[in-house]
Amino acid sequence: MKLITTIPEMQELSTNWRVVTGFVPTMGYLHAGHLSLVQRAVAENQNVVVSIFVNPSQFGPGEDYNNYPRDLEKDLELLKTCRVTHAFLPKDNDMYPEGYQTWVSVDGLSKILCGRSRPHHFRGVTTIVTKLLHIVKPQNIYLGEKDFQQLVILRKMVQDLNIPCRVVGCPIMREKDGLAMSSRNKYLSLAERQQALCLYNSLQLAQELYSSGVRNKQEVVAEMKELILKQKGDIDYIDVVDPENLSSLSELVRGSRILLAVRIGQTRLIDNLEIV
Ligand code: PAJ
Repeated sequence: MKLITTIPEMQELSTNWRVVTGFVPTMGYLHAGHLSLVQRAVAENQNVVVSIFVNPSQFGPGEDYNNYPRDLEKDLELLKTCRVTHAFLPKDNDMYPEGYQTWVSVDGLSKILCGRSRPHHFRGVTTIVTKLLHIVKPQNIYLGEKDFQQLVILRKMVQDLNIPCRVVGCPIMREKDGLAMSSRNKYLSLAERQQALCLYNSLQLAQELYSSGVRNKQEVVAEMKELILKQKGDIDYIDVVDPENLSSLSELVRGSRILLAVRIGQTRLIDNLEIV
């Protein structure tokens, strides 16, 4: 595995590649969720580039940029065992040099759901991913359904900006008890780790209600809220949306997606489920 730390070096390599390249952007502190994307990329491409970059522009004031967990040594070990060909580790000052002023934003989709409580978050994500796509020039980019709104926004961006790259969405990896894997789970105390199960359990409850014939969103959301509040979760939002464009639905239908964000103690967690 080759380590690349500068943008010119990465660009020179990618400009001359004549083989299919898959790309997995990450912020590091890798877990099995990230590795599932990497494995899919390794299976489908000759070159696989994984970037590790904790992107400051997608964190708001007072969010966890400084405390975001980091363990580069372990990350690189994991990537080697997955047979990744290139790890790209750009530096903050190279990505955002002094005087940086260009932003990419997907206007509508970035303002709803997570965008309401994190107003500049998706602008940071779309900007960094555009930059990375220009630098790495992959044919395929692998993104997790864990961050479902991010996936829909990045698909829209690639389409709107005619970026020649296929966007591959990959399923959510969960712990045995159902908690969606996330680098932020590290923040949870033992008690909070138990409380955090309310996200997945409430999604399961929604599926059960749907399976037993309930279709009304308000009714389903009310039951989900009750379950989450019992575990002292602080609900940011729960919504049932069309998976293509995230528009809010009033009824659950097969294929609709339930998205939620809940604060457990100081930690904001997200999860989602496709209704089947
Ligand atoms: P990060 O949170 O490190 O996630 C990197 C990728 O891993 C994302 O596509 C995310 O959806 C996926 N992922 C995380 N947990 C997962 C899980 N449990 N199952 C499946 N996939 C999972 O998302 C980001 O970084 C950043 O916003 C980034 C796109 C790198 C831009 O900075």
